[in-house]
Amino acid sequence: MTCEMLFDFATIPARERDKLLLSTVIPRPIAWIVSLGLDGQLNAAPFSFFNAFAVDPPVVGIGIGSHDAARPKDTRLNIRDTKQFVVNLVSEEMAQAMNITAIDFEPDVSEISEAGLKTRPSVYIKPPRIADSPVAMECELMQIVALGTDTGLVLGRVLAMHVRKDFVIDPAKYYIDSSGLKLIGRMHSGWYARTSDRFRMNRISREEWEAGNTNRAPVLERP
Ligand SMILES: Cc1cc2nc3c(=O)[nH]c(=O)nc-3n(C[C@H](O)[C@H](O)[C@H](O)COP(=O)(O)O)c2cc1C
Repeated sequence: MTCEMLFDFATIPARERDKLLLSTVIPRPIAWIVSLGLDGQLNAAPFSFFNAFAVDPPVVGIGIGSHDAARPKDTRLNIRDTKQFVVNLVSEEMAQAMNITAIDFEPDVSEISEAGLKTRPSVYIKPPRIADSPVAMECELMQIVALGTDTGLVLGRVLAMHVRKDFVIDPAKYYIDSSGLKLIGRMHSGWYARTSDRFRMNRISREEWEAGNTNRAPVLERP
């Protein structure tokens, strides 16, 4: 019999809940967000409380906290104030630059220039995208759901997606070379995961299940 330990979140301080959640909800995709302040100040920072939640309307969500109780992260303030942002996705080759943009700079410092990044204009919104990111989504704010006093779940509608041409397999069919993107995911503390070690497992239809035809071993795919 396996033996488990129960961690009751009602009795665990937030700092420790953080460890439990971040080391088990893995890997998490990373939204590398570019936003603009009301004064036009450019900002970039990574967030791994991130995912896509709907396709109609197309919605992404990001949980953005505070540096401390009185200081919400600049990205959340910018999105609240200007209602627009770009979610760039992070490839292995962009990992180090992404990490630089997570430094807690003063609001008047642009992480984009600190990390030596180039930008390209967006089509629908003011914040630009990161030129070398393989995928960038132009988003407009739908809603910020307050999570406690220090965190906001930002829900954004995706207006358009830019995908680097070499990763578009068939534009008519909207096929993307997702393994070619070499995106990274966040694990716990300083650990990251690659998306190159994958396996394939097809869905089983009800007919196959009822006919007993389910002998499909997962197919491994290595780079
Ligand atoms: C890979 C990675 C993922 C992160 N994910 C989050 C997150 O989901 N939520 C959050 O509040 N901070 C997250 N951070 C920390 C922010 O990036 C960091 O606090 C940053 O300075 C915020 O910048 P800003 O004040 O310009 O918005 C993450 C950092 C890294 C390196």
